[in-house]
Amino acid sequence: MQIISHYPLKMLNTFQVEARADQYVRFETPDQIVDFFKQPGMDQKRRLVLGQGSNLLFVKDFHGMVLHPVLEGMEVIEEHREYVLVRAGAGQVWDDLVAWSVANGWGGLENLSLIPGFVGASAVQNIGAYGVEVKDTIARIEAVSIADGRPVQLNPRDCGFAYRYSHFKGAWKDRFIITAVIYRLRKKPNYVTHYAQVAETVRRMGTLNLATLRKAIVHIREQKLPDPTELPNAGSFFKNPVLENQKFAALKKAFPRLPHYDYSPEAVKVSAAWLIEQCGWKGRCHGNAAVYEKHALVLINRGGASGREIFELSERIRNAVSEKFGVPLEREVQVVG
Ligand code: FAD
Ligand code: EPU
Repeated sequence: MQIISHYPLKMLNTFQVEARADQYVRFETPDQIVDFFKQPGMDQKRRLVLGQGSNLLFVKDFHGMVLHPVLEGMEVIEEHREYVLVRAGAGQVWDDLVAWSVANGWGGLENLSLIPGFVGASAVQNIGAYGVEVKDTIARIEAVSIADGRPVQLNPRDCGFAYRYSHFKGAWKDRFIITAVIYRLRKKPNYVTHYAQVAETVRRMGTLNLATLRKAIVHIREQKLPDPTELPNAGSFFKNPVLENQKFAALKKAFPRLPHYDYSPEAVKVSAAWLIEQCGWKGRCHGNAAVYEKHALVLINRGGASGREIFELSERIRNAVSEKFGVPLEREVQVVG
């Protein structure tokens, strides 16, 4: 385990912006992480735990230590009559886990096909798509406490999971490095196909099983989301705003076409992409940064954009939406600087 100084991060973030870390450490086993944080003073440094960098925007060099757990592997650790428990290393590529589960006939992750990133961040972000959130399959999380290098097991009930949120992003920020996630996957899948586009694509395929559902999701995503290896991006830049019923009702009255989704008895989720498109930002550029022409919620690096340029574009969008609709957009992407 080596600490490398002045480490380039361009290939470690899917926006592919230039930035350097003062220091960088790569971990390949949980024991390396435990040993590292048992050394005195290691918990004092400014640090960033990095996965695949698909939900981050570096706006300048990172003056601290980037910790990169690339712990791979996936295995069945328990088999029961109705489900299996699968343990995946935090540095395992997420979509490889989904493909493997589907190939084995285990249900729960198929709607989350083709989401970039590593397993560790799936729990941090509570990743979600097409009516499914990963929190519903997480059985346990293994992590190392940064304060003293102690291995811990975390119960999903304690993690504060909500829409694109967990305590790892809030009260527990910088307290743990996740080393593995254990998922409970069903032997008899519950297919979630209520999204109109999903239902329609599956119907055209003629059969509903895990493989066709995964194929449908991949197909839908490829139509509207850019492949970060071809067009660098970090997925949805903002979250869909959640508005309390009264505010939503007033907005819906003024803008009857506003797309919206049930969220809770007290609140409604509205489409950030629609708000941005109505402000005229879809397809527009700011220097080498732009709003993707097929999806207004995705910002792209057209080539050579700096993190600062992408950030400035996002702020202009945020101001425009706030002025026109009075709705504050909250970033999903973590800005690091
Ligand atoms: P990173 O971006 O590296 O890190 C994200 C956060 O997690 C950071 O705060 C980091 O410090 C923390 N973190 C990472 N690993 C660990 C660890 N081991 N321990 C502790 N903290 C850690 N997201 C969705 O939810 N749904 C989608 O449909 C979706 N579609 C996307 C489509 C595209 C084209 C792209 C580029 C992104 C999309 N995303 C989506 C966002 C992104 O893929 C997810 O947020 C993903 O989980 C990020 O994984 P990562 O490994 O790249 O995390
Ligand atoms: N829309 C527009 N203009 C656009 C794009 C979309 O007006 O340019 C409107 C359409 O009415 C469309 C609606 O927005 O029906 C919803 O669009 P979409 O189905 O693409 O979903 P989204 O709300 O934009 C969310 C997640 C995605 C996730 C999809 C599918 C957030 C912030 N984003 O996007 O997650 O894949 O639903 O469930 O919740 C991510 O988190 O990075 C991400 C890509």
